[in-house]
This record gives sequence, structure tokens and C-alpha cells, in this order.
Amino acid sequence: MARFVNEPSQTFNEYLLIPGYSSSECIPANVSLKTPLVKFKKGEEPAIKMNIPMVSAIMQSVSGEKLAVALATEGGVAFIYGSQSIEDEAAMVRRAKNHKAGFVVSDSNVTPNATLAEVVALKEKTGHSTIAVTEDGTANGKLMGIVTSRDYRVSRMAPDTKVADFMTPFSKLICAEEGTSLKVANDIIWDHKLNSLPIIDKNGNLCYMVFRKDYDTHKQNPNELLDAEKRYVVGAGINTRDFAQRVPALVEAGVDVLCIDSSEGFSEWQKITIEWIRKNYGDSVKVGAGNVVDGAGFRFLAECGADFIKVGIGGGSICITRETKGIGRGQATALIEVCAERDRYFEETGIYIPVCSDGGIVYDHHITLALAMGADFVMLGRYFARFDESPSNRVSIGGTYYKEYWGEGSARARNWQRYDLGGEKKLSFEEGVDSYVPYAGSLKDNVAMSLAKVKSTMCNCGALTIPELQEKAVLTLVSATSIVEGGAHDVIQKDKGTNIK
Ligand code: IMP
Repeated sequence: MARFVNEPSQTFNEYLLIPGYSSSECIPANVSLKTPLVKFKKGEEPAIKMNIPMVSAIMQSVSGEKLAVALATEGGVAFIYGSQSIEDEAAMVRRAKNHKAGFVVSDSNVTPNATLAEVVALKEKTGHSTIAVTEDGTANGKLMGIVTSRDYRVSRMAPDTKVADFMTPFSKLICAEEGTSLKVANDIIWDHKLNSLPIIDKNGNLCYMVFRKDYDTHKQNPNELLDAEKRYVVGAGINTRDFAQRVPALVEAGVDVLCIDSSEGFSEWQKITIEWIRKNYGDSVKVGAGNVVDGAGFRFLAECGADFIKVGIGGGSICITRETKGIGRGQATALIEVCAERDRYFEETGIYIPVCSDGGIVYDHHITLALAMGADFVMLGRYFARFDESPSNRVSIGGTYYKEYWGEGSARARNWQRYDLGGEKKLSFEEGVDSYVPYAGSLKDNVAMSLAKVKSTMCNCGALTIPELQEKAVLTLVSATSIVEGGAHDVIQKDKGTNIK
């Protein structure tokens, strides 16, 4: 007969933290959000630690190279999506690893033959006003000139005016040679009162742009997550099908940590994948596994040798797995049970395996709840999809900006490997939707705001570190009526905005 779990499974929204005693030491400036990314033995340090408890979802609409750089700059790790060819994924990892802070690969490029109308459309799409003019219109083509908003006036010029007629031509540009240090590049910017400096190779091809505005921001990144060679730490998703080809390509590209991307991880496929990695690379290649929602799933993946374990089925914002297949579990309940098993495993073996809470974070305080319930870090999709750095398009609908966000199980992503149970290679039904999320600006500003809230709540609980929060947190379930009381109520709000915080 089937086994029944009679207690309903609960979500983050059904919990609150009860404040504990906070000493005068408990101020946000004293809070550390450092957290392990991979397993370690009692008394030892993990091979990779993050400075903030956030990783980005392994999704086409979330984790490209730009987001990887932006998130590592803030102290977290992005997992570049695996639902692309091995070559493309490895190239993304390589570009993120090779990214040199302050040196930007130009993302707005046109040919001299493009028109003013195209320049205006490109500016609208990327939000950037400095456009490189290259012979072939690519980011690394021969540099012919630069267009900034100072070069044209839409009201006075015909939309079909050619870029060649109004750009600042190469002969009038101040450029620097490949190999120039950031310090020297910034000196040139200051000396010549420039806003940007193109870096070119010996043949006049554009390599990077250095922007004046980036200099100050670069100096303000105390949390940057770097490897031993001072390159950004970058993760990548793999699947349980082509790992024998994909893993070597990603390792060769310099990836720091892998994660098996699967909607349901309590399976022999994950065991086979991890075993293959251990046989070929020992412990030098780090790999997370998942997703699971109970202690048995955790124990299985722990024994397979996973470096971290991801929790969550059906809680993602774009996810319709629960509706489509009737599997899943409320995220809070799943997390609490898995973390209890993780602690038992630690007591028995002396090996601490970090747990990642994946999906379903709607409000910033859900991050704090997840950490208090035992997660070492959270994986976020919708959250990061809203930012400038996510790979998806920004669109304007009715005067408001949105970013596109689609599930890996949607027909758009066609990530059949994630939902694969063996057999024929195709996605036969959808487990995710294609959607819009409100555009929210830069990752840096948003992450700073979210983590300020997390730190503030930790202080209310008398905790200065994540392990201390896990030890001291007192959580209470709330009734449906108290949830209503939790929002603004019995007042007429002047500006309702969105319900997405
Ligand atoms: P979010 O942060 O709530 O948007 O959830 C992101 C998480 O949803 C990802 O990290 C995946 O675990 C999961 N996910 C991604 N795509 C799909 C899908 O198409 N169906 C179901 N779950 C998905």
C-alpha cells in the first residue's frame, strides 16, 4: 500500500521568524554571509566558499556569461546553462573566466552602413549609448568609429542617415593597445576627458571597451569571488546524457564547479554521472546534484559523492511540474527535511554537504527563511532574470519594461535532458511556461538591497553568520489569516506597484 505523509507540505510564505535577543554587536555591518559551496570534512575549509549565499539558476533566460561576471563580482556563483551545445557552453564559461574587470566586450555594435534608425533601436534594446562601429558589425571587428548620443540628434536628422556620416571616425578616436593595464587605461580616460576608451589589437580590431563609469564601481567590489589566478569563479550545468563529452570541455574552459541540472535527481542517472566524474577526475572536479525533496533523496546523492545537493521540485515561478505530473513538495517542508538529513549525515560521517534551496523565492525574506531552515545558499531564476545582465530581451509593454523569462521545461527552451527519464530524446510535454518579469535594473543594486534585508533580519535573530542563524532561528507557522495581516491591510494604498519584491 502507498505510504502517506499526512502533514501538509508548506511553503516559505507560511513561515515567519520570531526575533531573538540581539546584542549591541548585532548590526548589519558585522554580519558575514560567507557560506560553503562544496562539501568539506569537519574542521577543514571547503574548497570553494562564496561571499554571499546566492547562485543563479541553470537556465537560458538567466545564466549567461554577463550574469556570471556580475554575480561573481558580488560574491556569488552563476551556473551557465547547459541546454546549449557543448561548444557554446564551454565558450561562455571561457569568456566569463577570461573576463577582465573593467574591460568590456562591446555589446552594441553596428557597421558603418547601418542607419540612425538602427542605432536608436539598438540603444533602446541594450540600454547602452556607446556603440562601436566595426567593419563587420561584430564586437571584435576592425574598428571604424564610435557613436555616442553626442553624435546625433534624432529630431534634426533623417532616420536613414548612414552611421558613417555621423560617427566619430577612427582617425579622431583615442584608443589603447591590447595589453594596456586597467590603471593605464583609466589614466588615459582621465587625461583626455573621455567617457570610453576602445582597446584594439595590432590589426586595429576591437578587443574591449573601458568605460569611465566602471572605474569607480570596480573599486567598490569587496565581495568579488575570484579563483587562485584572480579570475571570476564560474559554474556550469551538465546533464546525465553527454557528460563524457561535456565535462572535459567545461573543465578545459576553466569551470570551477558543475551541477547536474535535473528536475528530479533521485535517480541512477545521477549516480552514473557522478561516478564517471570521480573515476576521471577524482575530487578535483566539483559537482552538485539534485533536485530532491526528502531525506532519502539526499542520502542517495550524498552516498553517490555529490559536492552539494539541491532541493526543490515544483516550486519554481515558471514551473508547472506539479500541475503536469502531480509530483513535488512544498519548498519549506522539503528543505527542512533534507537539512535534517544533512545534519545527521554530518554527525555520522564528519562530512558536511551544503544544501541549496532551488526555486520559489518570491520575496527577499524568503532567502532568510531558507537559510534559517538550514540551506547554505539559494538558487534563483526569476530574481536574476529581471536584471540587465540576464541574457533575455528587455521589452516595453504599455510603457513598462519587462524581461522575458522562460522555464527550461518550456517548449521554448527545449531542454529535454533536464526532464529525461531515459529513452527517446525529446520533450513530449511541457513542464514550464514562457513569461515576462518586471525589469528591475542592475544586479548589483538589487543584490545589495536584498542582502541588506537578509542581514537586518539576521540581526533581529541575534545572528552574525549563517551557521549562527541556523542555530538560533525560531520559526513559526502562520495561519492563512495572519498571512493576510502580513501585507498592508485595511488601508487604501496610493501606489500598489507590483507584488514582486
Ligand atoms: P524561480 O527562482 O522560482 O524562478 O525558480 C527557478 C528554478 O525553477 C530553477 O533553478 C529550476 O530548478 C526550476 N525550473 C527551471 N525551469 C523550469 C521549468 O520549465 N519547469 C519546472 N521547473 C523549472
